Amino acid sequence: MYKNKVMKNKPKIVLSKKYNSYSIMNSDFQKYGWVNIKNGISKTYIKKLEKEFNEISLNFCGQNFEKAIKILSKKDKDKLYFLCNTTQNSTSHILLINKFESMLKKITRKKNLTINLGQFVLPGPPADKRLVYNFHQESNYYKDFKKTIHFHFPIFNNANIKNGAMSALSKTHKLNRIEKNEFKKRKKGFLSITPKNINQLIKDFDHVVFDLKLGDLLVFDGNLIHKSNSNLSNKCRIIGIHRMAQL
Ligand SMILES: [Fe+2]
Repeated sequence: MYKNKVMKNKPKIVLSKKYNSYSIMNSDFQKYGWVNIKNGISKTYIKKLEKEFNEISLNFCGQNFEKAIKILSKKDKDKLYFLCNTTQNSTSHILLINKFESMLKKITRKKNLTINLGQFVLPGPPADKRLVYNFHQESNYYKDFKKTIHFHFPIFNNANIKNGAMSALSKTHKLNRIEKNEFKKRKKGFLSITPKNINQLIKDFDHVVFDLKLGDLLVFDGNLIHKSNSNLSNKCRIIGIHRMAQL
C-alpha cells in the first residue's frame, strides 16, 4: 500500500494497515518513520473515551463535547482550552499510556526506559485555522530527549483529507533532528519551528495524508516532518495525542 510512487507535492492518502506481527510494524516504522495501524485501539475503548468526554463536557457547560467545541471555539477560546485540558487528563485517556508504552518497546525493539511527555486532546473545530501548524518536527520541541515517539488517534469522527487530517513528509525521520529552522511565535504562546529548507524537502520527499478511521492508531517518530491541515468539513476533527521519549 505504501509502495506506489506519487507525484511530487501532491499528498497521497494513506489508509491504515492491519499488522499481524510487530516485526513488520518495526520494519515499516524504521523505513517510513510512521505506521498507521488498523485497530490499534479497540473501538470499545474509543466509545468509552467519547462517553467520558461527553460527561465531562455536559458537567462543564451543559453540552456534549462536539457541540461544546463548536460553540466555545467561536465564543470563548479560553473555556475551550480548559475543556480540552480537562478531557485530556481524564483517567481513561491517561491510562492508554500503559498500552502505548508496551507498543513503543515492541516497535522500537528496545526495552529502554520511557518518559511520558504528556497527553493532549486537539479539538479541531470546523474552519479553524488557529491550530493548523506548518511543517515541523516534534523532536525540536523536546530537545532534551534523543528519541521521541508520538501516538495519534481520532475520537468521535474519522480524520481525513477533508477535515484536515495530519500529513507528513514520509521518511524525513532519517534526516534526524533538523538544526536550521525558522521560529515564529504564534497566538497563545505556541511556537512554530519550521525547517528553513522546507520547500526543497517538500520536493524531495513523498507527502502523505493519514486517513484515520476510529480505532486506527498512527505512531510516528519525533523526527518525522509533519503538519496539521485546515478542517474544511462541518464536523470536529478530535484527536488524542500521547507523546513519549525513550532513553
Ligand atoms: Fe506536531
